[in-house]
Amino acid sequence: MTAQFPVARPRRLRRTAPMRRMVAGTRLHPAELVLPVFVKEGIAEPSPVGSMPGVFQHTRDSLRKAANEAAEAGVGGLIVFGIPAVKDARGSAADDPQGIVQLALADVVSEVGDALVVIADTCLDEFTDHGHCGILTPAGEVDNDVTLERYAASAVAQVRAGAQVVAPSGMMDGQVAAIRAALDGEGFEQTPILAYSAKYASAFYGPFREAAECAPRSGDRNAYQQDPAGPAGEALREVRLDLSEGADAVMIKPALAYLDILRQVRDAVDVPVAAYQVSGEYAMVEAAAANGWIDRDRAIMESLVAIRRAGADLILTYWATEVAAKLR
Ligand code: PBG
Repeated sequence: MTAQFPVARPRRLRRTAPMRRMVAGTRLHPAELVLPVFVKEGIAEPSPVGSMPGVFQHTRDSLRKAANEAAEAGVGGLIVFGIPAVKDARGSAADDPQGIVQLALADVVSEVGDALVVIADTCLDEFTDHGHCGILTPAGEVDNDVTLERYAASAVAQVRAGAQVVAPSGMMDGQVAAIRAALDGEGFEQTPILAYSAKYASAFYGPFREAAECAPRSGDRNAYQQDPAGPAGEALREVRLDLSEGADAVMIKPALAYLDILRQVRDAVDVPVAAYQVSGEYAMVEAAAANGWIDRDRAIMESLVAIRRAGADLILTYWATEVAAKLR
């Protein structure tokens, strides 16, 4: 008998589909997927978002339907974004009990609130006429501490409407503490805060700003969102601050361009870590697939597996319902 060479053959475990399935180190489950949804005040029909094929600005009715489909597919949660009919400098619709987000939250909670977790994004950019995530000073800067009061009021209104988790996304310093104090003061000490802790000033939010009609009218978000090339410890510092302020779970955003940050954070903390596969990540795959340049379904699964493998316990993705249905 001639000697066998090589002895070590990693390919043995890759030969068949059942073998690969059995030894897989990364598995996706529908319950760890969260679907972001948009609801717009005053439209009669759902309106397609041009830069996000397959995504709609919902009416209250079509949102109920989308929520039911997500629940049926086994999706773990929904995060609601609203576009009010009227915007102003202080984002009044953000804490109006009759504001579109509050109404939509109540709708989806009554529809599917026992089957999945209903999350509210807490920020001001969808509600302000200038499109910034906070209240502006006369000089046009976002005033951190004045904005905190608005976030607190908005979070309380969202939880009163039924939100089961609030997710502050504005990157103001102290936002988790301000919201925690306000919720506790209203008897909502059991409502968790999912903090967008490390949120980068990203080009990948482009399509979302069409979907949520919230592009800043002037300037950009660089003075409050993190610089992609920022200091090495910045994301962990933001995460630790949010945890010290009472965050129950933290989020990294975007996902695919920040897998290193995701892994760092996952290794450093003992709370669930979420990753947001943002609008631009979605649009890139859909656009390439529409041109026949990429295998859409494989690209979707590969990107989700990568995000999971980098350490995400939860993934916010516009493909949540489709992927959950497929995983079932
Ligand atoms: C801010 C917010 C944004 C996104 C989620 N929350 C936009 C921004 O910061 O400009 C982007 C999500 C996406 O691109 O899918 N409220």
